[in-house]
Order: sequence, then structure tokens, then C-alpha cells
Amino acid sequence: MFVRALSLRDFRSWDALGLELRPGCTVFVGPNGHGKTNVLEALGYLSTLSSHRVSSDAPLIRSGTGQAFAGATVVNTGRELTVDLELNEGKSNRARINQSPTRRPREILGILQTVLFAPEDLSLVRGDPGDRRRYLDELLTSRIPRMAAVRADYDRVLRQRSALLKTAGGALRRTSRGGGRPSEDGASALATLEVWDGHLAAHGAQLLAGRLDLVHDLAPHLAESYQSLAPESRPASIRYRSSLGSSLPPEFTEPARVPEAGDIAFLEERFLHELSVMRSKEIERGVCLVGPHRDDLELQLGDTPAKGFASHGESWSFALSLRLAGFALLRSDGSDPVLMLDDVFAELDRRRRRALAKVALDAEQVLITAAVPEDVPEELDAVRFGVEAHDTDRGRISRIVEETEDRRDG
Ligand SMILES: Nc1ncnc2c1ncn2[C@@H]1O[C@H](COP(=O)(O)OP(=O)(O)O)[C@@H](O)[C@H]1O
Ligand SMILES: [Mg+2]
Repeated sequence: MFVRALSLRDFRSWDALGLELRPGCTVFVGPNGHGKTNVLEALGYLSTLSSHRVSSDAPLIRSGTGQAFAGATVVNTGRELTVDLELNEGKSNRARINQSPTRRPREILGILQTVLFAPEDLSLVRGDPGDRRRYLDELLTSRIPRMAAVRADYDRVLRQRSALLKTAGGALRRTSRGGGRPSEDGASALATLEVWDGHLAAHGAQLLAGRLDLVHDLAPHLAESYQSLAPESRPASIRYRSSLGSSLPPEFTEPARVPEAGDIAFLEERFLHELSVMRSKEIERGVCLVGPHRDDLELQLGDTPAKGFASHGESWSFALSLRLAGFALLRSDGSDPVLMLDDVFAELDRRRRRALAKVALDAEQVLITAAVPEDVPEELDAVRFGVEAHDTDRGRISRIVEETEDRRDG
């Protein structure tokens, strides 16, 4: 697929941007801090409904305005769809598909598929499990949009169950320690907890099954991408680590295991079992200790964990491989996602630049940002837009200042 048109209003530093884009490579060049990443961030937001840089929407709305707008026209195997989003300060966001309002913004998921590789991605290797869960869930919802609803249901139940563990902690502790007859409020809190256990296990099993399938499909692409970026290094591998612990048969986290019908029901039963095993610990600590929100994606180089052991170069290669594996996987599902490379070539050595350029040349559309044109491999420097921020009476605003010919056609 490719983005044919992009328009922004009051998104970050852009007060108004209207761009026609083409398949192939487009490069955004300009000094640091002038608004290049903001463009990719907007497309990333239309694709995942989240920013790779901030966890709330407020910073995306241009300072002094209360509303941001981002819209894209996406061409996928000849079929055109326009998605747009309104980000509202202090109000819920609104989305439209071909001008028709959707009931929920998440209905636009899957229309624009993007894979963004950015300097922040080093945290996939070095950061907390939450960064890797986010990587998995974004890829999962990009691939299977209905998983966004599963994820939202799971998060809602998790919040409610966590709140119960906190508020009813005292009563639950007295009941779970036994020692006499449970008090009335203790017994009722326990009954409520059991209801939430059921919901948590039902939604959690679906999310877990989705992630396990994803890791199963992703693992070979990851090994291959890493091998092509760093052939001299030890082989890279990934494995899902579940908080279900020994309740989950080990073959489930074998990347080679092919998922079977009945997995979700089985996982739900195992989930409930692990909740019963962990019950007194959860009550004691007042937090949910079991579920996909506690899981991790383990990254290995040879037989050592990448986190804490990988060199800087290896960590970069691993992070990039995770993105390229996602790209290869979405592509194997049937259509090329838009590849976005944010300021990354300057970080890479010659061999990795070449390997990345090879993937990029093969993609249907690639959007690249760089501080100077020299950072971009020659063969990718096709259409170039200059980006510069200007001080105006409405604040510092980004502008496209030049546009060069498409050098491949010309
Ligand atoms: N909400 C906002 N309102 C106005 N300007 C913003 C907002 N968020 C970020 N900016 C500005 O955007 C610029 C950074 O843009 P960015 O795309 O990250 O730059 P780069 O070209 O280095 O990729 C900074 O000048 C910052 O002040
Ligand atoms: Mg940037």
C-alpha cells in the first residue's frame, strides 16, 4: 500500500500541511527540531492510534490550539480509502473513513499499515517489558484489527479487577487467611473477585493466543532479518514469556508450535488455574500478578539474553530486525505496509545501511527523514522535501520549503 495524500492541521509544529506522495522513496530533509519526525508520527498515529514518542495525545495538538487533525488517503491494491482523525483536547477523538464518522476511532485500524523504525526503538532491546508488549500488540492489531477490541476489553477488566484488589484488600486478606468465619464483606468481595477472574481469563486468553500466534509467525522473519543485518553475530531469536508460568505447557512458547483449534479455551482454563494458585499472593500484594500485562518477549543472541549483554551495535541490529520482521510478516499477509525510517541511517555502519537500503528499495513506499541528504543512501534519495521551521505570529511553524524532481523518473 502507499499513502497518496497526507494532510495535517495543528498537528505538533504543522499548522497546515497538504502533501501529495508517491510510491517509492520520499525523503524529508531538514535541521533537527524542525518538524520531520512530526510528519511520520502523524502517519504512525493514523496507523496505530498511538504515538511512538508520547503516551498521551496532548503533546500532539499544536500549542495554543485545542484540536489537531491528521488525514491520509491510502491506496491498497488499487483501492483507495481516506482515513482522518480529529484529536480533541479534553474531549474524545473522532475518526472518519471516506468522510463517514466511525463509532470508534479504532475502526480505522488496519487501513493504513505502517512500520516505523526510529531511534526510540533501542528501548525494544534495552527497555522494560512494556515496550516489547507494545511492539507485539501494535503489530497484532495492525494484522488483525479486531484484536484492538480484545485488548481494550482486557485493559478495562484489568483496571476493575486491580481496583477491587486494592479497595477490598483488607476484607479479602482477612477472608483468605481463614482463621474463623469470613466476614460478610470479605465473602462478598471474594465472590466479586471470582467474577472478575472469569472476565480476565476470557479476554486474557484471547489476547495471549493472539500474541502466541504472532510470535510463532514472527520468529523466522526475525532470525532472517538479523542474519542479513549482522551475519557475523550469533543468531537472534525470540520467545514469548508468559506470566502463567508453569500453568502454561512449555510447548506453547515454542516458536515452532503450530497453534491449534481449542487453544483459546485451553488457555482460559490454564489462566483460571494460575489465578487460583496466585490468589493469596495477589490479595496480599493488592495487584494483578497474572495475565498478558505481566508478560514479556525474550530476545536472545545465541543462548544469552540480548538485554544487558548485547553490544550497542547488536542492540541496534536487534531493534531494527524486530521492525523489519514486522514488515516482512505484514507483507507475507498480502500487502506491503508503508516503511518509515526516522533518522536512522546516520546511526548505522556501512553494512547495515546497505542491508536496510536493500529492504527499503523493495518496499512499495518508504518515507525517510534525515538531517542532511548525505545521511541517506544515494539509491533511496528519490523525491526530496525540505523541512524548515519558521517563527511566525502564530508560533514556530513547520513548512515544506523545497521539492526536488523525482530523480529516478527524470
Ligand atoms: N504540540 C506542539 N505544538 C507546537 N510545536 C510543537 C509541538 N510538539 C512539538 N513541537 C515542535 O516540533 C519540533 C520538533 O519536531 P520534530 O519533528 O521532532 O523535529 P525533527 O525535524 O528533528 O524530526 C520542535 O521544534 C517542537 O517545539
Ligand atoms: Mg526527528
